Amino acid sequence: MRFFLDSANPTTIKDTLAVLPLDGVTTNPTIIARDMPDYMSLGAELKLIRELCGDRLVFAQVTSEDADGMISDAHEIVRAVGGRVSIKLPAIPSGFTAAMKLAGEGISVTITAAYTTSQAILAAKCGADYVAPYISHIDNLSLDGPAVAVQMSDMLKLHGFGTTVLAASFRTASQVERVIAGGVGAVTVTADMLGLLMAHPGTRNEVDKFNENWHKRFDKPICEMLTVNASI
Ligand code: E4P
Repeated sequence: MRFFLDSANPTTIKDTLAVLPLDGVTTNPTIIARDMPDYMSLGAELKLIRELCGDRLVFAQVTSEDADGMISDAHEIVRAVGGRVSIKLPAIPSGFTAAMKLAGEGISVTITAAYTTSQAILAAKCGADYVAPYISHIDNLSLDGPAVAVQMSDMLKLHGFGTTVLAASFRTASQVERVIAGGVGAVTVTADMLGLLMAHPGTRNEVDKFNENWHKRFDKPICEMLTVNASI
């Protein structure tokens, strides 16, 4: 099960990767336009993301709409980011064609903004490593985003494809929990969502109780007490 950070903000990436064992970073044109507004420094910013990610996987998306343009975008992204990159291509006809050609060149591709199992199976047929359903966007159509992602994942496994479902665009912790419990192989979440996934008021209460009981009896943290005992 792979967990990615959905961000192009260098500070967020640095801070998050320092404290959690994530598998890499996902971006899209909206995220890059928001987090890196100066296009003159785009190449340098992408290099910085690579440095921050080390050998973790970085996802970056094409912005052309025709297959040849997407392929040119992809080659430039691979050159600019370097290392392990997966090229995100939208699940439109030209995106599938570009995916087939890029996968044939040995470039990792992700079919993104997928809404249906048909798009997922075509992504797999084109050789995509990942297919990314947008959970909350599917929910907003009065459909069940987590259920669609799980169905995609089940179907790909049933037919023996190696393509992994990368569920994206979460608004609630429960959406994330449902796709993971359903066997989806990868999720990408914001730093805020990671905070929600880790926090629980019940756990906080337990920690407060541990601390209260400890400090009723001792005035130092356990490491200092063990150091004292070891030196006796
Ligand atoms: C991830 O790669 C997606 O691009 C992202 O999760 C989309 O999220 P949004 O719908 O919150 O913009």
